[in-house]
Amino acid sequence: MASFLIIGGDGIIGHALKARLQSEELEYVATTRRRLSENELHFDLATDPDHWPELPKAEVVFFCAAATKLDACEDNPEATRLINVTHMQALAAHVQSYGGLVVFLSSNQVFDGSKPYRKADETQCPVSEYGRQKAEFEQWLSKCPTPSAILRLTKVITGRLPITEAWQEKLESGAQIEAFDDLTFSPLPIKSVLDGLMLIGKQKKTGIFQLSGRKQLSYYDIACKLAVKMGKDIKLVTPVSAKNAGIRPQFLPRYGTLDCSTMADIAIAEIDCLG
Ligand SMILES: NC(=O)c1ccc[n+]([C@@H]2O[C@H](COP(=O)([O-])OP(=O)(O)OC[C@H]3O[C@@H](n4cnc5c(N)ncnc54)[C@H](OP(=O)(O)O)[C@@H]3O)[C@@H](O)[C@H]2O)c1
Repeated sequence: MASFLIIGGDGIIGHALKARLQSEELEYVATTRRRLSENELHFDLATDPDHWPELPKAEVVFFCAAATKLDACEDNPEATRLINVTHMQALAAHVQSYGGLVVFLSSNQVFDGSKPYRKADETQCPVSEYGRQKAEFEQWLSKCPTPSAILRLTKVITGRLPITEAWQEKLESGAQIEAFDDLTFSPLPIKSVLDGLMLIGKQKKTGIFQLSGRKQLSYYDIACKLAVKMGKDIKLVTPVSAKNAGIRPQFLPRYGTLDCSTMADIAIAEIDCLG
């Protein structure tokens, strides 16, 4: 049996996890929907489980694949639920049938954003379709007789936020920029996510775990930090409302932080998202 299987090795987290396993010289196989390379096999969660390829058995299976776009979940709840819930359940049942550990990546969006630093054992109360799908799968997994691991994350940051490139160009030329002051998130460095996944995977930990940025930032906060870093006047940054710009209100939680005491050994650096 392989040690580790990554379902969805091309996403932000799956890709970084492959690199981490490689750097630790640990054996793994990853699934892809793209062109195959070494240690990879084709797998599409949207297809009928009766037609799935034979997946290699692994002691630990990281569930990194998902329909992750919030709007797509809201607009196509049936198609995304098939991937995020129904077929995810079929996959988890298969992994558990041979004794593999399911490590499911979940989100702070299983909560409604009305309270900061939600504890891992609080009752889920999602307000978005994405959050409802995550919560539904979590509940199903928690009721399985075989224990598994659920790791809830806030927004994972791998470097510089892409929007800061455009802001920088404008600020350099002395132009005004606009940034949402009601769209907030708790930036969580990818390194902490990988540390958490490795801890769970190596020690075969089970239960509900949470990793969260310590602080909550708005896009306006980040734009102001950028202006200051560039030596520009922060009056060049105008706060605007994401709600007024048409972002769905269920995507604008007041609070997004999670209590991290279930992962107390994992260091979480404070980051400004400016790279
Ligand atoms: N990144 C975050 O800030 C964050 C925060 C909280 C929770 N999470 C959770 O962590 C997990 C990984 O997130 P991520 O940011 O790495 O997501 P991502 O970058 O959107 O990657 C998702 C991966 O899932 C794959 N995928 C989508 N539909 C699939 C299907 N039908 N069959 C097989 N694979 C499929 C994608 O394949 P393609 O590459 O071919 O499209 C991609 O590799 C997700 O469950 C997400 O909900 C992420």
